[in-house]
Amino acid sequence: MRIAVVGSGYVGLVAGACFAELGHDVLLVDNDERKLAELQRGECPIHEKFLPELLERHHGKRLGFTGDLAEAVRRSEVIFVAVGTPPKDDGDADLSYVESVAQGIACAIDDYKVVVEKSTVPVYTNSWVRKIMLLNGAPAELFDVVSNPEFLREGTAVADFLYPDRIVVGADTDRCAEVVARAYQPLTDGSYYKQPDAIPGPVTGAFEANLIRTSAKSAELIKHASNAFLAMKISFINAVASVCEAVGADVEQVREGIGSDSRIGRRFLSPGIGYGGSCFPKDLLAFRSVARENGCHFGLLDETVRVNEEQRNRFMRKVHKALWTLKGKKLAVLGLAFKNGTDDLRESPAVAIIKSLLKEGCSITAYDPAAMDRAAEEFGPNSAVKFATSSYEALEGADACLVLTEWEDFAALDLGRIKQLLRYPIVVDGRNLFCPALMEAAGLNYYSVGRPDVVRERPATITSLKEAAKNEAA
Ligand SMILES: NC(=O)c1ccc[n+]([C@@H]2O[C@H](COP(=O)([O-])OP(=O)(O)OC[C@H]3O[C@@H](n4cnc5c(N)ncnc54)[C@H](O)[C@@H]3O)[C@@H](O)[C@H]2O)c1
Repeated sequence: MRIAVVGSGYVGLVAGACFAELGHDVLLVDNDERKLAELQRGECPIHEKFLPELLERHHGKRLGFTGDLAEAVRRSEVIFVAVGTPPKDDGDADLSYVESVAQGIACAIDDYKVVVEKSTVPVYTNSWVRKIMLLNGAPAELFDVVSNPEFLREGTAVADFLYPDRIVVGADTDRCAEVVARAYQPLTDGSYYKQPDAIPGPVTGAFEANLIRTSAKSAELIKHASNAFLAMKISFINAVASVCEAVGADVEQVREGIGSDSRIGRRFLSPGIGYGGSCFPKDLLAFRSVARENGCHFGLLDETVRVNEEQRNRFMRKVHKALWTLKGKKLAVLGLAFKNGTDDLRESPAVAIIKSLLKEGCSITAYDPAAMDRAAEEFGPNSAVKFATSSYEALEGADACLVLTEWEDFAALDLGRIKQLLRYPIVVDGRNLFCPALMEAAGLNYYSVGRPDVVRERPATITSLKEAAKNEAA
């Protein structure tokens, strides 16, 4: 099939490269000249496993890049729209990028086209896209609009796209649903997985992706509701972690216990400094707006957001507890990206925490395996954030180490060396990467989420002093 994908970001670039991998002839469109130039030079502008391989495999053959939307529309039978839908100040999704692409498609349309919403959009966007296209002169019989939300996760985006849990096609006519289904056919009939050079995925043996056909409105709601549910799971375990801290229980044990229930499952039950990224925070706010505008009270979403914000404050309190005053402290930060496997800093809790630490007068030396270039842009050359070339370099002479992203490399660090390099033996772990008993054995004071602190020399308390006095008298 001849496919156009508009927007070559984390979603569009992966989708375009994967459609080329499935045998289609793909033209990716973007209006960011710098990104286009990088792509045309054969560079991969984002950190994403298997993406450089796919770009190398198909660039110049089944995959091309252009800034010309009209050209891409005219040559394609299906146009996936994957531009950003960032939040506005009031929490609503900003749909102006989607609207401008719809106008551009309408002006170029010359034959029947299927326009597919791949961006995450609120319910009713499908009908708005249709209206905008009609207002801009597209004949009603020459196009249909389908909602096909994307569920990939950054860090495992290529494998998620090629081995999806489900493909949702929200279409109000069979004709357009059939066109979109054809784009995914090598996944739904399983033929892709039989290819010897198929990208490896989480399943072995025969696999056929599940395609769910819904109405356009239902598909739009499925995406918002899925992200809201996952964010709620994260906030739920974070709230449980706070109770664990209050009563002296261990959230990792509690998590094992509740996650073993097949109705609940272990995934998305990792306590930490809260969710971030370009999706959950904005999608939750947008879903809440949709619910409100339609007269539905959805307080669960408010609470999910509140718990998430509180996690960052709780982490800051732990840093205070470990170090007392912060002004002038030199801190090593491990992790900048909003999660492991990506260079994406959007809504990263690590960035928010670093900004709070800078306000308190700390200086930071940070290390992240993928996100340092983006972080250098984010903080600018004059900030008190410096970047190290390795975790160990970041730790040298620091007053404490803060772990803010769950990169596997960090979990494998040599604990003895951490202790040796730090000025004070203090690790504050926002991702529960380390085992408290091993930290204790390594002589480190260790503060994590939802687990008892490991403090080698506890400060005297009234009770312990009374206890000591009693022992003395005896
Ligand atoms: N990032 C994710 O993990 C993820 C997952 C699922 C869904 N989504 C959704 O997919 C959409 C895209 O997200 P993203 O992370 O890829 O965003 P992104 O910012 O990385 O990419 C968007 C791209 O669209 C381009 N663009 C904007 N306006 C354009 C126009 N008029 N013409 C051509 N190109 C244009 C931008 O230059 C940019 O390259 C969002 O709605 C997001 O919510 C994202």
